[in-house]
Amino acid sequence: MCGITGYIGYREAYPIIINGLKRLEYRGYDSAGLVLYNNDEIKLVKTKGKVSDLEKKIQENTDTSGTIGFGHTRWATHGVPNDVNSHPHYSESENLVIIHNGIIENYDTIKKALIERGYTFKSDTDTEVLINLIEEIKKKHKVKLGKAVQLALNEVVGAYAITVFDKEKPDEFVVARLGSPIAIGIGEDNKEFFIASDASPFIEYTKNAIYLEDGEMAIIKRDREIRVRNIKDDALVKYDVLELKLSLDQIEKGGFDHFMLKEIYEQPKAITDTFRGRMLPNEGIIKMQGIDDHKQKFLNANRIIIVACGTSWHAGLVAEYLFEDIARIPVEVEYGSEFRYRNPIITENDVVIAISQSGETADTLAAVKMAKEKGAFVYGVCNVVGSSIARETNAGSYTHAGPEIGVASTKAFTTQITVLTLMALKLGLEKGSISKTEFHQYLIEMGLIPDKVENLLAIDDKVKEIASIYKDATNFLYLGRGFNFPVALEGALKLKEISYIHAEGYPAAEMKHGPIALIDENMPIVVIATKKGHYDKVVSNIQEIKSRNGKIIAVVTEGDTTVKEIADHVIEIPETEEALTPLLTTIPLQLLSYHIAVMLGRNVDQPRNLAKSVTVE
Ligand code: M6R
Repeated sequence: MCGITGYIGYREAYPIIINGLKRLEYRGYDSAGLVLYNNDEIKLVKTKGKVSDLEKKIQENTDTSGTIGFGHTRWATHGVPNDVNSHPHYSESENLVIIHNGIIENYDTIKKALIERGYTFKSDTDTEVLINLIEEIKKKHKVKLGKAVQLALNEVVGAYAITVFDKEKPDEFVVARLGSPIAIGIGEDNKEFFIASDASPFIEYTKNAIYLEDGEMAIIKRDREIRVRNIKDDALVKYDVLELKLSLDQIEKGGFDHFMLKEIYEQPKAITDTFRGRMLPNEGIIKMQGIDDHKQKFLNANRIIIVACGTSWHAGLVAEYLFEDIARIPVEVEYGSEFRYRNPIITENDVVIAISQSGETADTLAAVKMAKEKGAFVYGVCNVVGSSIARETNAGSYTHAGPEIGVASTKAFTTQITVLTLMALKLGLEKGSISKTEFHQYLIEMGLIPDKVENLLAIDDKVKEIASIYKDATNFLYLGRGFNFPVALEGALKLKEISYIHAEGYPAAEMKHGPIALIDENMPIVVIATKKGHYDKVVSNIQEIKSRNGKIIAVVTEGDTTVKEIADHVIEIPETEEALTPLLTTIPLQLLSYHIAVMLGRNVDQPRNLAKSVTVE
């Protein structure tokens, strides 16, 4: 939550910061602000609203010159979104300035102590408390900014990625992280540095970056090699400079109206990128380094526990069906937030799989740490390379989906399912729970999925037409069974989050146990009724809906004639193995929610109240 970015060097800082904020807006977008320093003067502008509102405000009357500065795009935690609570925040003397992503949990105690010492507070934020604590420590101990930040951070409880500037030291800023990410881009010959919550703001300037680890800080000065220190004991830390693979076109819309639509259309390529180099049908193997290196852990596992949140949790539910059906390993799927707080029984023979697109979701990360402490082997399935979960886990597989910028997950979901399918197949073959022939058949089918998704995207216009009929509905039901029950949940989540229409997903057979009472002629019901997945049972469910005048939008296998006669609308998907159908059935549901949201004039890429990565619990 919240995006931070900054620059120090020889170029004008403002365009770098404002463009960087636009790229980070997926992390939060209820307010934005920035600070620049030039000619002995701090220029700080902030506002409720989006980065574009900030840009307008700045254009009105701000001199944007200066070669050092930083900015923030906010997702509110402490204090409602308004101009005052927006970042950056000044200290009492207005000599220090801070931006912050995270939460200072003990801010209230510190605030009371600072008030007693005469500090006043303009905002309701925990961040203003932190900057005043830094100022107080700096004065009291007569230390420089870096030391004051370090001492202050040793007093706070919580999570943070911060950047702090001191007017007395105008050629540097201090960054630190615990629980929220910070990447530092290194310009040529250390002449300039960039900081950001992820590398996207500086990708056109440098490919070299350091990712601070939890508990680390750095003082960033022009023309000086970066020194990273441990916040606790001040020890110098050896760091790696990574070469970034990200390219500019990956983070731009490329002619699509929204990132979400671009990412839906990218799925054939994203799925291919996920299995490329791993699936080797001619050799009859799946190569996954993370599993190969720890094969016995998986083969001897009593059970697999999957932890995740949101869409990634839905991918985890698909994986439950995959691992149990194909690899015959018992699976439990847990919400990160529940798992971490309920003292679960975990043993050394459990394998925990953490699924996260961003690799930064606070609850999933905390669940990973807890499972490791309890002795489990923890495997990560993440998209963002070098993310906190990817680093915290014992081993893992990246999904290689490329950057996902739309807040609503699309390609992250299908690529997570792809990785999890490969894992289940690999383990199934090792365990002998599927035959070589079945394994081979799966690989062939998986290889065809990208083309099938590509062909399926041709239904876009038809889905758009259906969207126009139901866009004003106030409720939707999504039903599916087996492998497609999680897809029903995901379809409902997609609709809720971007169109703000209430939607619920259910296993189709559960309908009779309550939701059927909701059905009347105003209720659209999306039913996944593919040929192999308990088809006859789902057809009976469809009949039950029909008898109550519900409006049926059915996702069926190509050539289906039975459902066609009953349903109001039919969307056909190509035939494939039942276990692989989620990779196809998901696509029309993504498109349906996208078109409804666009027709309702919603902000598809940045739906209200949401943020792409939920780094607070
Ligand atoms: O980055 P993660 O996969 O850990 O994020 C988990 C959820 O916040 C996320 O999947 C969320 O539900 C989706 N953006 C919804 O589309």
